[in-house]
Amino acid sequence: RDFAHIPPGPKPWPIFGNFGGFFIPRFIRRRFRRRRSESGDLKNTLDVLTKLADTYGDVYSLFVGSQLVVVLNGYDAVKDALSNHPDVFSDRPNIPAITILTKRKGIVFAPYGPIWRKQRKYCHATLRNFGLGKLSLEPCVLQGLAAIKTELLRLNEASGGAGVDLAPLISNAASNVICSMIMGERFHHGDREFRTLLDLMARGLEICVNSAAFFINIFPLLYHLPFGVFKEFRQVEGDITVFLKRIIAKHRETLDPVNPRDLTDMYLVEMLAQQAAGEGDSSFSEDYLFYIIGDLFIAGTDTTTNSVLWIILYMVLYPEIQGKVQAELDRVVGNNRVPSLTDKGRLPFTEATIMEVQRLAVVVPLAIPHMASETTEFRGYTIPKGTVILPNLWSVHRDPTVWEDPDIFNPSRFLDAEGKLLRRECFIPFGIGRRVCMGEQLAKMELFLMVTSLLQAFAFSLPEEKPPPPLLGRYGLTLAPCPYSVCVRARQAIL
Ligand code: HEM
Repeated sequence: RDFAHIPPGPKPWPIFGNFGGFFIPRFIRRRFRRRRSESGDLKNTLDVLTKLADTYGDVYSLFVGSQLVVVLNGYDAVKDALSNHPDVFSDRPNIPAITILTKRKGIVFAPYGPIWRKQRKYCHATLRNFGLGKLSLEPCVLQGLAAIKTELLRLNEASGGAGVDLAPLISNAASNVICSMIMGERFHHGDREFRTLLDLMARGLEICVNSAAFFINIFPLLYHLPFGVFKEFRQVEGDITVFLKRIIAKHRETLDPVNPRDLTDMYLVEMLAQQAAGEGDSSFSEDYLFYIIGDLFIAGTDTTTNSVLWIILYMVLYPEIQGKVQAELDRVVGNNRVPSLTDKGRLPFTEATIMEVQRLAVVVPLAIPHMASETTEFRGYTIPKGTVILPNLWSVHRDPTVWEDPDIFNPSRFLDAEGKLLRRECFIPFGIGRRVCMGEQLAKMELFLMVTSLLQAFAFSLPEEKPPPPLLGRYGLTLAPCPYSVCVRARQAIL
């Protein structure tokens, strides 16, 4: 390959590329310390990736092993690539550890092309039918919230002032919304089968990005090693497969084509219709459905959960903003009913607060890796076919050319002089272009309902004896806040 005109970048290490310097010392450190780092590794990585642009420009290159990676920084470069050159920059790379899990099927890691387009279009429309029709999503989210509110009060009481870790409760509520839409089932957060699935998925992701299994991406044959984390990786993959296949089989056996219960039923009906019509090349198959379920579950659970956790964390660290949101909720919604999606337009400060937290705590900070599907000239550089493209959304949300005082938490930046909500083009927590998040509308509604319901019901504060948690992220597939506990005080009777 001709690397003469690729974007500039720091000199790579032999074999490991530029990330050797990041990963190798971490593994060595961890071997000796034998405990998981809770610090903001990813945030530091994001800061480093963002600062490299000061030296090399908004478009620079790195190597992971021998793989060329181009990082896009700031709003102009990200928008230019994803919105102005969508046919070149909308493909997904073949990342060995991910390909083992997804076989490049489903939606998230499927190659850009007619099959991905057909599957995405169908699933998006189906989710719309089931979930995004305001009437069906709202009761589903609110029902889940009613249960966790009661549980939250009980746990708070039992903690004796030490505070409650919200993560399992919020994760349960978010997973239940996705589960209801895909599998038509709701689970109690203590449900053993459900916990097993959540734990397996969390463990699979953890192994993929945060263990020696990461090196499968550089040396794919490591996957077959019969010991340690490599063996565990295969075991987790097998367990998830058994679990999801059982769910599909159960749906097939009880399918009533006239009354589809959820996305799985709708997909099976469409698949049968295409088979009956003799569409031999149809990509609709149970095999494909399997990967779509996995995709939506993973894409829709962690992202929403961590967004809510970040919002509550900012609320306890900025109690005056929490108070202003609650005052707006009291004024507009009152205390006789729970907030509804119809209140959305009338709660601008609350919406601005949610957006400001999403701006600062970008839960998918590097989007999902894209790939150049052909060699192209971009901003004066040659980007060879197969180059991995990382849109640094974190840097877009901290770009000083488009945000005033970008590091300051200030919800009012999303409001005009009359207090009305401002739509800002450079606010892109869901990405942009053809691969923009498929669950954007669903996620926005879920976030709104969860956050307003929780802040209407409770005042959140930090436990007295504990130091305030840092505003750093934890390394994973998404950017999660470091674990924290909060005390809750009921502001009104539970509705
Ligand atoms: C992709 C953010 C919730 C489904 C993405 C991407 C981002 C993102 C940044 C990558 C865009 C790119 O590659 O350029 C978020 C955030 C969420 C959220 C911040 C919550 C606050 C959801 C939910 C669903 C979902 C609830 C479930 C329906 C997807 C899918 C993709 C995706 C299927 C892949 C799209 C494709 O490759 O065509 N999301 N997401 N997301 N998201 Fe979300």
